[in-house]
Amino acid sequence: MKLTIDKNKAVGYINPDIYGHFSEHLGRGIYEGIYVGEDSEIPNTDGIRNDVVEALKEIDVPVLRWPGGCFADEYHWMDGIGPKEKRKKMVNTNWGGVTEDNSFGTHEFMRLCELLGCKAYINGNLGTGTPREMSEWVEYLTGTGSSPMTELRKQNGHEEPWKVDYFAVGNESWGCGGNMRASYYADLYRHYQTFLRTYDSKNPIKKICVGPGTSDVKWTKTVLEACYEDANRDFHGFMDYLTLHHYVFPDGWNCKGSATEYSDELWYKSLKKALFMETIIKKNEAVLDDYDPEEKIALCVDEWGGWYDVEEGTNPGFLYQQNTMRDALIASATMDIFNKHSKRVKMACIAQMVNVLQSVLLTQGPDMVKTPTYYIFKMYKHHQGATCVDSYIANNESEGPAEWQIPKVSASASVKDDIMTVTVSNLSLTDAEEVTVDLGGDKVNAVLEAKILTAENVRAFNDFNKEETVTEKEYAGYGLDGGKLSLALPAHSVVMLRIK
Ligand code: AHR
Repeated sequence: MKLTIDKNKAVGYINPDIYGHFSEHLGRGIYEGIYVGEDSEIPNTDGIRNDVVEALKEIDVPVLRWPGGCFADEYHWMDGIGPKEKRKKMVNTNWGGVTEDNSFGTHEFMRLCELLGCKAYINGNLGTGTPREMSEWVEYLTGTGSSPMTELRKQNGHEEPWKVDYFAVGNESWGCGGNMRASYYADLYRHYQTFLRTYDSKNPIKKICVGPGTSDVKWTKTVLEACYEDANRDFHGFMDYLTLHHYVFPDGWNCKGSATEYSDELWYKSLKKALFMETIIKKNEAVLDDYDPEEKIALCVDEWGGWYDVEEGTNPGFLYQQNTMRDALIASATMDIFNKHSKRVKMACIAQMVNVLQSVLLTQGPDMVKTPTYYIFKMYKHHQGATCVDSYIANNESEGPAEWQIPKVSASASVKDDIMTVTVSNLSLTDAEEVTVDLGGDKVNAVLEAKILTAENVRAFNDFNKEETVTEKEYAGYGLDGGKLSLALPAHSVVMLRIK
C-alpha cells in the first residue's frame, strides 16, 4: 500500500484545540478523578490530584470543557462559589442521582486550567438558567473594574479576572438540554449570546452555539439561518463555533456491549461508526460553506468517543468503562479526520478526560492508569499547531465483514518547523500491512522519532496495580533506504514518526 504525502499542499492549520478534553460532573470524572479535596491523603495541589495533572501535562491538554454535558443545563454556578461549607448541595439528576456538594466550582475549575496550562471552555446553562445568570457568570469570570460580580469574585479570593476563551449557550438543547426544536433554540441562542459580554477587548470570549448530534443537518441550517437572517450575510459576532457530537455505540444505543470483551464483528462496527465522523463533518461543512464562505464560524466536536456498557459492579449512571486498542484506533482514526478537516474543525473535546467513557486516565483510590487512548494523545500531540498537508492512500483495501467494511489504513501528516509528523494506523484486526511513504520525490533524511502503540491481545487493557500492557514503545518497524521510507504495520497498531 502506498501513502502519498504532498508537503506543499496545505490542508489547514491544526488548531491545538482539536486535541481538547471534556470533563463533566458525572460519576467519578471530577470527584476522585481530578478533585480529591485539600485534606485528602492523595497528593494534591489545592485539592487537585498531582498524579493526574502530571500525566495530563505530558499530553499537552490545550483546552478543557466544563461543567457538562447534560449537567451544564442544571448547573447554577453561584452554588459553587464562596466558602465550601456554605455551598448549596444539589442532586445530580442526570448522572446517578447522587448528591453534588459543589465543592468543585468556578475557582477550582480555573485553578485546574491554570495547573494544566490550558484554555478554559465553559458551558453555560440555557436549559434551566436565565440570561442574567449566564451573563453574570461571564462578568464574574472575566469582568474588570468594579461591578457587583467582580467585587464578589474578589471577596472570594480572586482579585484579577480570569481569561476564558470559550463559552457555550447550552448543551444538546435538542435533547437533555431542554428538548427544544431548532427554531426555538435558535431564537434563545440569539437572545442569550447578546449578554455574553467581552470585558477585555484583547481577549474576546468566543461564543459557541449548540449544533447537531446526528448527520441530519436540519438543525445546523436552522440555527445558521436564524443567526444571520436579518444581518445580510453577516453574523455580527453572534457565533464563533458550532458544536457537533458523535459517539460510537458499537451495536446501537441499546446494545453497546462490553468495553473489553467485544466480538470481531463489533471491532469493525465500532471503527466504521468512528469513521462516520467524516460524513457528519462533511455535511456540516457544506452547510457552513454556504452560509459562511468567509469561514468565520468553526466546528467544535466537543463530545466524541466510544460509549460502552459500564464495568461490572459500577454505578450505571457513572459511565465508567475500560479502554483497549479498539479505543486507541477510534481515537487515531478520528484525529486523522480532524486533522484533514482542520480548515473548519478548530476544536474537539474527547468524552471524557478521567473515569468517564473513553477516558485518557482512570483512577482507583490513590492509583491511576494511563489508557491506550492516553498514548494516542501523546503520539498525536506533535500535530498540534502544525499545518496539515495533503495525504492519500492508494489501494486502501477494505477490511471486515461485508456490511461493516472499512479502509484498512488511516493516516494524516503535518509540518511544523520543517519537521513532518506522520501518523498511520492499521485498522485490521488480524492482518499486518506494509506501507511505502511517497513524498513526491523528496527524500527522508532522518527519522527523528518513531513510536508505536499496539498489543498482542487486542482486548488487553491497562489495569490497576499491574504492569502496563498497552503502552507506547519505540518503533523499529520502519525502513529507510536511499531516502525512501517504508512502514511495517502490525495488525491493530498506530505508529507516529517525526521525519526531516
Ligand atoms: O458525555 C456524556 C453525555 O453525553 C453528556 O452529558 C451529554 O452531552 C451527552 O449526551
